[in-house]
Amino acid sequence: MTDAVFLRCINPLCGATVDRGTTHFRCPKCNSLLDVAYDWDRLQPPRSLKAFEAKWSDRTNPLSFSGVWRFYELLPFAPTNQILTIGEGQTLCQRSDSVAQYVGVKPGNLFLQYEGMNPSGSFKDNGMTAAFTHAQLVGARRAACASTGNTSASLAIYCAATTLMRAIIFIGSGKISYGKLAQALDHGALTLQIAGDFDDALARVQQVAGQLGIYLVNSINPFRLEGQKTIMYRVLEALRWEVPDWIVVPGGNLGNVSAFGKAFIELKELGLIDRVPRLAVINAAGADTFYQLYERQGLRWNGGHFDSQKIDNYYRGLDAGNLRASTLASAIEINRPVNLPKALRALERCGGLVREASDQDILDAKAKVAAGGLGCEPASGASVAGAKKLLQEGIIQPDERVVCILSAHQLKDPTATVAYHSSDAKLFEEVLGSRGVKRAAFANRAVQVPNDLDEIVKAIQLYA
Ligand code: F0G
Repeated sequence: MTDAVFLRCINPLCGATVDRGTTHFRCPKCNSLLDVAYDWDRLQPPRSLKAFEAKWSDRTNPLSFSGVWRFYELLPFAPTNQILTIGEGQTLCQRSDSVAQYVGVKPGNLFLQYEGMNPSGSFKDNGMTAAFTHAQLVGARRAACASTGNTSASLAIYCAATTLMRAIIFIGSGKISYGKLAQALDHGALTLQIAGDFDDALARVQQVAGQLGIYLVNSINPFRLEGQKTIMYRVLEALRWEVPDWIVVPGGNLGNVSAFGKAFIELKELGLIDRVPRLAVINAAGADTFYQLYERQGLRWNGGHFDSQKIDNYYRGLDAGNLRASTLASAIEINRPVNLPKALRALERCGGLVREASDQDILDAKAKVAAGGLGCEPASGASVAGAKKLLQEGIIQPDERVVCILSAHQLKDPTATVAYHSSDAKLFEEVLGSRGVKRAAFANRAVQVPNDLDEIVKAIQLYA
């Protein structure tokens, strides 16, 4: 008899199952991605989502406090006494009428799921607590990732806070924002700057992890995605268990959209929701593999029989032209998303679609989010820019309820933000203009004043 929790190949023609103790995250038979799978009949799934509210009054228990583990019954892959938590997932789903107006939906219909409140400042902590829990179960002493900066910050903080593992991180040279690099260094991670970009680093870290037996925490690790499912549970919780019409999420390595799809498919199968929302993935225009394949080339999951030749050909074209991902939204500067097949499955099951947003639109949307009271880094602005586009196209309707995911904190990447608001034309050109951004439509410029009381008073009376 197999365990009630196991890994299963996502390829329906294969469907091989693997023991949950594995640290090799591809199918041993066909090399496809793996899911964490549950035999729910032998577990105790919740009878209703409302039942989770009982955990709110038990907040001195770390497993009830964590915004991930208070949904334990929906990701019960480890015994409760093995769970590693640092209090992640205390995040906010905030209604924003100013962003609603910018996007074009009615007041009260737009929500921002702000994952910047996590301990390391990004949504990654939702997945890291789950991967760390699994890593501990299998006795890992070293954990590695390739990263555009947030996964590495998250890994570094979990290693520092628990002292259970040594963090080894692979980052592309010059490709990571200062806020994120600062976190990796400050939390003591072994930081390897590879001469290349994220796609190069991800390929390398998989080789190295295999060769040295180091535990891999990139989102190819299916336990990461179990943790990230809870972002959707918290959205539902904030909406008093009502399913919104749309979830709009930035797409990089496509872990989030894959996790969100799995969350909703499972909730539906368990009879805990009666419909699923639609999922919209927003690529940066300079890193738009998923958009190109899904929207331009018509690639579909097709019940698991997707045309992998299309993907191979696309990557061959990138190689032939030496085409590299390039966007100011450095977190999603990724051309070879490792979770692409799972993302296709999520879109099929949740009526999904993909759009791309220019760096200009991303930065303008990000400025609007901040003006509305929540700060985010550029990649997160993609979700709001994408929602606006979908309104303009008439695909999202003004009376639909939309949740945009703000994946990370504003202070992760201040360089683009300062350049956007700066009155220094040289700085603007250096940081933004050279990358194709033409204007800062919502800039809030600092006012230069002499160190003189009258002049200072005059300036304040003029501007405020
Ligand atoms: N937003 C932010 C702020 C991110 O850091 C990432 C991914 C994404 C969105 C995209 O999420 O990969 O699930 O589609 N950052 C990874 C990293 C790749 O290394 O930190 P995804």
